[in-house]
Amino acid sequence: MSPQSIGVVMNGVTGRMGYRQHLVRSVLAINEQGGVTLSGDRRVLLRPVLVGRNAEKLQRLAEGHGIESWTTDLDTALADDANLIYFDAQVTQARVKAVLAAIEAGKHVYAEKPTAETYEDALALAEAATARGVKNGVVQDKLFLPGLLKLRRLIDGGFFGRILSVRGEFGYWVFEGDWQDAQRPSWNYRAEDGGGIVLDMFPHWAYVLENLFGRITSVYAQAVTHIPERVDERGESYRATADDAAYGVFELEGGIIAQINSSWNVRVNRDELVEFQVDGTHGSAVAGLRDCRIQHRATTPKPVWNPDLPATARFRDGWQEVPDNAEFDNGFKIQWERFVRHVVEDAPFPYDFASGARGVRLAELGLRSSAEGRRLPVEP
Ligand SMILES: NC(=O)c1ccc[n+]([C@@H]2O[C@H](COP(=O)([O-])OP(=O)(O)OC[C@H]3O[C@@H](n4cnc5c(N)ncnc54)[C@H](O)[C@@H]3O)[C@@H](O)[C@H]2O)c1
Repeated sequence: MSPQSIGVVMNGVTGRMGYRQHLVRSVLAINEQGGVTLSGDRRVLLRPVLVGRNAEKLQRLAEGHGIESWTTDLDTALADDANLIYFDAQVTQARVKAVLAAIEAGKHVYAEKPTAETYEDALALAEAATARGVKNGVVQDKLFLPGLLKLRRLIDGGFFGRILSVRGEFGYWVFEGDWQDAQRPSWNYRAEDGGGIVLDMFPHWAYVLENLFGRITSVYAQAVTHIPERVDERGESYRATADDAAYGVFELEGGIIAQINSSWNVRVNRDELVEFQVDGTHGSAVAGLRDCRIQHRATTPKPVWNPDLPATARFRDGWQEVPDNAEFDNGFKIQWERFVRHVVEDAPFPYDFASGARGVRLAELGLRSSAEGRRLPVEP
């Protein structure tokens, strides 16, 4: 049987995430492999309809990838009944309005994180989608990274015993833009444009912690702007009004303490751009984007504190690599396939707007905690 196809309106595909991860590595890659596999050996292809503000860029993009449809008019794309899904990877600030329009038009909606800038708006989106009866999903790509999938496997296999703590280190040096171009868009550094590392990263930490370790019960964060002035895409200097580093402590149900540093002002002295160390009574693990290393209680060395002697043990040698034991596909693509199955055949998809809203709430509470200098409870 030849595969059927569904229209997918994609807004924000000229951006970093929209283009590389969602259009090229997900939607087009899915079509290259013959579509999303459904139950009963059926398949469905995705027909992207590119939407954006700049006709020239859209046309170039469409031609470059052999895509038939593009428009600068979102309403036209939403009016077409053949388009079942609306996807949004625009700048965060533009998201709510466009997603609400898509919900109103009866489209199933899939969106980048954060789903909104405020918890109130994020909840409103979740409620609107439920009221209209459309399927909804938020990108939670970190869950599908090989490193975190291995961590999940260790947890499910009982490797850790009782988990005590999680320490996450995320970040890298983002150039200021004066003598080397910045590798992130300048809106990320302006609060008035929806920027800030807390709003960017706490939604990730919310679903990572919630899915792997348990519900978050409290948050303490210190958010700072280490570099107050940067240079934008046009070479003009601007004031960085948003936080560019955040030092957070999260308490989880069951007493696990998670401590996660997020920073765009740190030089990497790690194996990967994000790493989580998990310590449990029976073993520990360090998981990155791809790799995961473990140390079991039986192979744990017994260091003795003595500053008078040089360290003789090479501590990092005492860790063991967790084997792949599986093929790992692109995380964004895996989640796209799952969302399409959710839409087409009602397969389960727990990464909905409600969980997206919990991510935005954690960011909002993190910023409030920082402003007030105190730990804040996170309601169930
Ligand atoms: N899942 C992840 O790991 C991840 C990583 C980075 C960014 N994101 C999210 O993806 C979204 C896009 O981020 P990005 O880094 O791709 O940004 P970007 O600046 O590279 O792209 C933004 C896109 O939005 C469009 N846009 C619409 N209205 C705009 C406006 N008023 N001003 C500027 N651009 C406008 C741009 O044309 C472009 O297509 C953000 O919400 C961000 O939080 C997610």
